[in-house]
Amino acid sequence: MQRLLITGGAGFIGSHSVEAARRAGWQVRVLDDLSTGDPRNLPADVELIAGDVADAAAAAQAVADCTAVLHLAALVSVPQSMAEPAATLRTNTTGTAVLIEAARQANVRRFVLASTCAVYGDLPGRKDEASPVQPLSPYAASKLMAEQWLQLYARAYGMETVIFRYFNVYGPRQRADSPYSGVIAKWCDAVQSSAPCIIFGDGEQTRDFVSVHDVAAANIAALAGDWRGEDGAWGGVFQVGVGVSVSLNQLLDTLQQAAGYPITREYRPARAGDIVHSAGSSDRLRQRGWQPRVDLETGLRELLRDW
Ligand code: NAD
Ligand code: UD1
Repeated sequence: MQRLLITGGAGFIGSHSVEAARRAGWQVRVLDDLSTGDPRNLPADVELIAGDVADAAAAAQAVADCTAVLHLAALVSVPQSMAEPAATLRTNTTGTAVLIEAARQANVRRFVLASTCAVYGDLPGRKDEASPVQPLSPYAASKLMAEQWLQLYARAYGMETVIFRYFNVYGPRQRADSPYSGVIAKWCDAVQSSAPCIIFGDGEQTRDFVSVHDVAAANIAALAGDWRGEDGAWGGVFQVGVGVSVSLNQLLDTLQQAAGYPITREYRPARAGDIVHSAGSSDRLRQRGWQPRVDLETGLRELLRDW
């Protein structure tokens, strides 16, 4: 059995990826500092190293005897990154640099990074992987630098690196208990406690919401086979989304439909660093055989049912 390290494996996308990896036959180890992750998200028999990806000793211990690394550990919130830019840089960029160097020294072959469509900033129109990037937050910039580090490791050391730019991921186990939590988790929580749903800005900003089950499937697919980019080199970029842009106002309408009763909305000023429109395609990923299986309304219904 080949061993896979999943950093951030006790978190939202990480824990679904752990399950998917085990189903695919990987022996999984997790490195997570449990800052937003929770060990209860993990099956009891998964090896968990509680440590920081930016700590070289923890990184070295974590990558030992691994064939592949799925690197998800990060500070993930755009507004938190506006408030804590240096901490964001340390975890997301330095953490990636420390981890991939440990991986190189341990002869890890494949290294997959969870990056973000936030790297495009407010570039108008539908984005593809070749679109220009213009980060608007420390979070987006830190991820772009991490991407470049993976491309460097492909060129300089021949490592098989793969970059996924996820759109907005939602699903079970996304935390709702922090001001920095994702919008769908916050709103499901509000609906269940009959509180109003807060909309930052006019609600006309758009996002492409993709189910965590579909993202976990993409993550596992990237661990094997030929994932070189368009130019035939490793370090290629793949967008991961459904390809449908939904405004926040539309999202709340759909949530209301799924809930089956009226939901109160409350508008607040837009957040700093927020991008307005997020739209793109996952054609490049679909060409590798991936396709999203969960549509938004079904995903929201399931989420509300089990919340
Ligand atoms: P999450 O907060 O649930 O997961 C992050 C995990 O990393 C947590 O378990 C946390 O404890 C851990 N972590 C944080 N800092 C760490 C450190 N220094 N060392 C070790 N572990 C650390 O968030 P998520 O939504 O599951 O995000 C996972 C990845 O996907 C992140 O890299 C994020 O940037 C990326 N991403 C998420 C989305 C989304 O919509 N959720 C979209 C694009 C990209
Ligand atoms: C999210 C991810 C980020 C990822 C990016 C990819 C989280 C916490 N952030 O950022 O890691 O890289 O997608 O596109 O998962 N909003 C409200 N009300 C709320 C909460 C949010 O109106 O209660 C709005 C925000 O202002 C924003 C939109 O909803 O316009 C989405 O916000 P959020 O879920 O935090 O995600 P992003 O900032 O898009």
